Amino acid sequence: MKSLFTIAELSSDQIVALLDRAESYTDKRTNELVNVTVATLFMEPSTRTRLSFELAAHRLGAEVVSFAAETSSVSKGESLKDTALTVAALGVDLIVVRHPHAGSPELVAGWTNRPVVNGGDGRRAHPTQTLLDLLTMRQIFGKIDGLTVGIVGDVGNSRVARGLIDALPRMGAGVTLVGPSTFTESAPTDLVQVSHRIDEVIATVDVVYLLRVQKERGAGGGYPSDASYHRRYGLNAARQGLMKPGAVVMHPGPINRGVEIASEVADGDRSVLLHQVRNGVPVRMAVMASLWEGRS
Ligand code: CP
Repeated sequence: MKSLFTIAELSSDQIVALLDRAESYTDKRTNELVNVTVATLFMEPSTRTRLSFELAAHRLGAEVVSFAAETSSVSKGESLKDTALTVAALGVDLIVVRHPHAGSPELVAGWTNRPVVNGGDGRRAHPTQTLLDLLTMRQIFGKIDGLTVGIVGDVGNSRVARGLIDALPRMGAGVTLVGPSTFTESAPTDLVQVSHRIDEVIATVDVVYLLRVQKERGAGGGYPSDASYHRRYGLNAARQGLMKPGAVVMHPGPINRGVEIASEVADGDRSVLLHQVRNGVPVRMAVMASLWEGRS
């Protein structure tokens, strides 16, 4: 593996190997990337992904440089290509890219001839999010095969949902997408089931995986108001009470409290949101170390 652009590039065996490697890195530091420089090239906002890639690089012994569009020469009109070439000329060895346009990570890899990890591109892919979600499920349930996962919300705009829809069925899990028809119309019904009623699904799944309504991608037009969305699809305490014993609530973050998730659920004992966040570091260590080994 030279770069990682989408989860679809990885076989099930490669996914399992990365999860195993991530487990071995939990709370560890290594020197596998000593004398390697990693750049996080983020053209979209991020908290979790960027910080965990940077922590992961540090914990592998790498030097880390951080790039944010709003404080860089991108704000003066510099193109992605010239930015990427500049980063490479400065001696960066491995690049993490987040960009609003699908396919940008591949372009950066082509221009720079460096290993690139996709940290989220448009609506398309966010492969390390998929890996950390799979690791979280495997740690909680001891397996992924046979799990049932309800993915609730703004599926159409979600690169996170796209990754789960690809990986979970391949790993033996069943997936039901839940949301208004405006959010689920492009669902691949050969891979997943679709429901427009959360109350029909909530009691049947092991994982309720909530998605943020992405207003920045136009999703606000897909339903009448935040209050009506919360009434019809939000996970509140009453709905949480219908969940199976042992079932958990997941969300990639950032969350919109009072829209897709009530505060008492986000902060409650079914919520594993911070478990997901913690897994971001070992998963990204595993990905970057594997890419570095597989370069050339
Ligand atoms: N889940 C996720 O990608 O969060 P950030 O946008 O904060 O990185």
